Formats: sequence, structure tokens, C-alpha cells
Amino acid sequence: MHDFSYHGGILHCGDVRLDRIAREVGTPFYCYSMPTLVRHIEAFEEPYKAIDHQTCFAMKANSNLAILSLMTRYGLGADVVSGGELYKATKAGIPADKIVYSGVGKTTEEIDMAISAGIMMFNIESQQELEVINARAGELGRKAPISIRVNPDVDPRTHPYISTGLRSHKFGIDIEASTTQYLRAREMDHIEIVGIDCHIGSQLTEVRPFIDAVERLKILIEELAQRGIVFRYLDLGGGLGITYSDEQPPHPREYGKAIIDTVSGLGMTLIFEPGRVIVGNAGILVTRVLYRKETPEKTFIVVDAGMNDLIRPALYGAYHEILPVERKAPETRTEKADVVGPICESSDFLAKDRDLPVLARGDLIAVMSAGAYGFTMSSNYNSRPRPPEVLVDGDAYSVIFKRQTYEDLVAGEMIPDTLR
Ligand code: LLP
Repeated sequence: MHDFSYHGGILHCGDVRLDRIAREVGTPFYCYSMPTLVRHIEAFEEPYKAIDHQTCFAMKANSNLAILSLMTRYGLGADVVSGGELYKATKAGIPADKIVYSGVGKTTEEIDMAISAGIMMFNIESQQELEVINARAGELGRKAPISIRVNPDVDPRTHPYISTGLRSHKFGIDIEASTTQYLRAREMDHIEIVGIDCHIGSQLTEVRPFIDAVERLKILIEELAQRGIVFRYLDLGGGLGITYSDEQPPHPREYGKAIIDTVSGLGMTLIFEPGRVIVGNAGILVTRVLYRKETPEKTFIVVDAGMNDLIRPALYGAYHEILPVERKAPETRTEKADVVGPICESSDFLAKDRDLPVLARGDLIAVMSAGAYGFTMSSNYNSRPRPPEVLVDGDAYSVIFKRQTYEDLVAGEMIPDTLR
């Protein structure tokens, strides 16, 4: 469910015409719907109303301070994977005790920062990381709360680049080796074992792999309990998929029910790290057609957004629906076209061989489902300023990131004296 629909033939976000925003902030731009974000948060939270839990929004999906402030208002915490994300979460008012820290490559500085902040827990991804965190906590005169990210060797049946829970992946600690690591952690002076964690991949469209992972974790939890290691938190990661085209992922209600049924009786506080399911369909990228280019082979629609603005199609061959902002009359001819950006790379496309109404120079199009891993994965490639982000609420919108300027592009760059 989202808030992007046609009124009078013009695509709106809430009550705001997208062509109006385009006129006022220029193109390309990201546009998010606040009511949709709220609805997604509430839908995700609903199944756990009566259950001890904490949802920690995966900031890698979208880390704009305004979006994070909304998460704070609704009681969400954050799943962070860098010092930068920890900084932004704190800046947005997310309490440290609602922050979990994941990722295979935490630096010493980042570890110190998180220990000092007093986060809920580190999700440990290797034996060496555990040792370093113990040492740093000792140095700082603190105890570091940890869970081990267990790699349950479950196939999430999603795109290989975004699946993480197989033994061949760099993530987590092998389920067989986890017992040993927990026993080691117990002997460490500056480590407090608080939880157990797994995250098997992203954009999952079935409940089964999640449940398989939990079932494997349950065996481990039982085994460790017999050895006197008990947990407060069971972190089930993120990964719930969304509809980009015709996928039919489980509704958060269905996912929640399956999880609750599987974990009942464990008596642990559930932690979730959803990203995409909250923000993915709450945001779009709006771009303007620069040129039509017809070659003997193909028709190209060249637009002013490129792979630097939205890299998912180039990186994963991801599908994003394309809608014209001004709806064409039903009798308008359609054509097969590639929607491409201005970047000097053949992989710079937003859609390939897509049936689209015939578009002309100046037309606006919306690239749908771009709220997750859109802006956060954008770059300045080809020295293109990053686009603005706006947040719509009803009949008003706010700019929540202003378009970068050319000066922004050179901020931080320095020419050594020898070259002056
Ligand atoms: N927790 C951990 C430890 C993760 O690695 C991730 C995503 C999440 C939570 C959130 O997963 P979600 O609920 O959003 O599926 N750039 C890719 C997605 C990469 C996901 C990486 N990890 C894309 O654009 O599809």
C-alpha cells in the first residue's frame, strides 16, 4: 500500500502533484510519503503488540535524519553498520540502548564509539572481532554487550548479491562454531553475552527460510542453555521483501505470526532489523526525459537521473516500475524502450526493454519503489551532485536533503602546494 496515485491524470504523492515538486526543486529528486512510512511502521509493529520486542530500523536502507526522526517518534531503534550510521542515529534522537551494531568490519574507532555510547549490543561476526571488542571494552573500563551473528546455512532464495546466510558467505559465524565462540565469550572479562542473532538475506519473498533459520537457532539456544548460557535477546535480522513488480512477499502480519509461533516459549525479547519493508515502497525517484534516441536496434529514453542516483538496476538488474507523471490517454501508443541515464557506462539504465507509453523530451517519469537502497547507495560519480530528497505529508512537502551544489563536489578536495 502506498500513497502515490493519479488525480486528474497527474501522479501525486499524497495531495501534492509531483510536477509541482519538480518545478520547485528541479529534477531528479527522491520523494517519500510520510503517511506510507507510518503505515509501514505500524503494520510491521502490529503482530508484536503484546510481545517483548524492539524493532531496530536498518539504516542502510535509508538514513536521512528526517526519516530517522520519524522512526524515533514511533519508538524504533536502529541497526547500524558504521560509525557514520551510529552518529546519524544518535543525532536523530535514537536512544543508544535501542541500537544494535552489525557488520563484518567494525574498526577500533567505531567499536570504541559504540561502547562509549552504550549500545544495546554488538552483533559479532568473527572470533577476532570478539577478541578486539573484549580488549577495547577492557581499555575503556566497560563491559561490551554482545550477541553472535550465527550463520545458519539457510538459502533465502533471493538474489545472490543480497543473500547472506549461506556457509559460503562472509557473514556471521558458522552455526557449528558458534557454541565454541559463546563458550570463549563467557570466559572474557569485558564481554557480556546478551543475545543471539541471525540475518539470512534481503528481499525474501517466502516465510519458510526465516522459519528454517529460527528452527536452527532454537537447537543452538537449547544446547547453550544446557551449558548455562542464556540470552535476553533473539535478533532475527531484517530481510522481508516487497513488491517491485509481481512478487508476492508475505505480509508483515503473516511473517510475524509465523515467527511468534516458532519462538513461543523461549521467553526472549525479539529484535528485528527491517529496512526495505518499511521504506522501499514509501519512496520514488522522479526524473525528467532529456532526449529520445532511436537507433536501428532500440529506442532509448535518456533521463536526467543516472546510476549514480539509483544503482539497483545496474548492480542487481533490479526491476523498478516506471510511471509517467502525466498519465497518457489510454489510446496512446506504447513502445518498447530502455530508460537510461547520462552516465558514461553501458550499465547506466533504470529500465530495459520496457513497454512504456511514448515519452517525449520534457516529460516527467517516476521510478517506483525507490525508498530503500536508493539515495543511500547514490554517489557523485561523473561529478554529479546528489539529488534532493523531499518528504510529503498530506498537501505539504519539506525538502529533507537539499540538492548538492558544484561547491559541495569540491568541498574537501585540496591541491598540494607543489601543483599550484
Ligand atoms: N540486518 C542486516 C545485518 C543486514 O545486513 C541487512 C541488509 C538488514 C538488516 C536489512 O535488510 P532488509 O530488511 O532491508 O532486507 N542494497 C541491496 C540490499 C542489501 C541488504 C544488505 N543488508 C538492495 O538494494 O537490494
